[in-house]
Amino acid sequence: MTNIVPVNLGARSYEVRIGPGLLADISAQIGPLLRRKRVAIVTDANVAEKHLPMLLAHLAKAGIAASSLTLPAGESTKAWPEFTRTVEWLLAEKIERRDIVIALGGGVVGDLVGFACAVLRRGVRFVQLPTTLLAQVDSSVGGKTGINSTHGKNLIGAFHQPSLVLADTSVLNTLPQRDLLAGYGEVVKYGLLGDATFFDYLEAHGPALARYDGPVILKAVTRSVQMKAGIVERDETEEGERALLNLGHTFCHALEKATGYSDRLLHGEGVAIGCALAFEVSQRLGLCAQEAPSRVRAHLKAMGMKTDLSDIAGDLPGAEALLALMGQDKKVIDGRLRFILARGIGQAFVAEDVPPDVVVQVLKDALPR
Ligand code: GLY
Repeated sequence: MTNIVPVNLGARSYEVRIGPGLLADISAQIGPLLRRKRVAIVTDANVAEKHLPMLLAHLAKAGIAASSLTLPAGESTKAWPEFTRTVEWLLAEKIERRDIVIALGGGVVGDLVGFACAVLRRGVRFVQLPTTLLAQVDSSVGGKTGINSTHGKNLIGAFHQPSLVLADTSVLNTLPQRDLLAGYGEVVKYGLLGDATFFDYLEAHGPALARYDGPVILKAVTRSVQMKAGIVERDETEEGERALLNLGHTFCHALEKATGYSDRLLHGEGVAIGCALAFEVSQRLGLCAQEAPSRVRAHLKAMGMKTDLSDIAGDLPGAEALLALMGQDKKVIDGRLRFILARGIGQAFVAEDVPPDVVVQVLKDALPR
């Protein structure tokens, strides 16, 4: 079964197709987009090993010529050197504006390839084939592309929408449990930010998702993508509502920096902890009921996910130092930090003036003594 979620953006509209077996059906899926029978694929070493031979075989069977570039796996790839290499490779491959580039991988590959396609010949079409839960529910949809700077994550980039997203849920079966649960951090975020009924569903069915249950994964990815598509349609370039997608991310970015973007903390794990902290701040400010943060934490714990700062291995900086790390967040406006807070589960909003002392106190209480 394939669910189709349209992203309606006028001339930049596209579909997100979600379901098992889409990679094996690649030629039928992308065929209508091709003006000549040729594609370029960019992937990373881990994903190449698992999925590239199968993808190449299916393309060859349909008579579609394909060349591929395999980048090193990991967040450090998302920087100028591998970006330059990718753009130069696409030029050497003579990829034209009417061609299709395929981004096969997780968020690192999707973001880097999307950005390469945004600048190559002033804009080349690309198809996202996200292979992680995180990329299927978040980074592959909505056209945010880019790379990291030494000044921070995702500070260099462009909005460049894909022409199609194929979220093949069967590839998630090969994801390690830790990566699946990290991606689930972004799934929970959608329930918390705007759909209390979805959060109820996740409380009931999340454990089945953690056991790689196909129908639950399909439903969770589909609902997440529907919510993201709706927000992106209303606010493509993040003038307002799209900022809600950053629920938990201000805390997450500070924690990622504090842990050196290492595997002490995966991005989705930081988002989950950040969501719990955002609800804690909301409750301390009297914005939501006392039960809300406890319910968020209880669900994350029931899923076996990192929930508290004490779940992060090794030492963390103190509360004030963590607050200072938030100061580099790209959502800073006029030096004031914006937080996404909540009036309850499913009721997030953008808060412009959160008192820093409340944030510091929440962090102090959360840090291990
Ligand atoms: N990942 C946040 C956004 O796409 O806006």
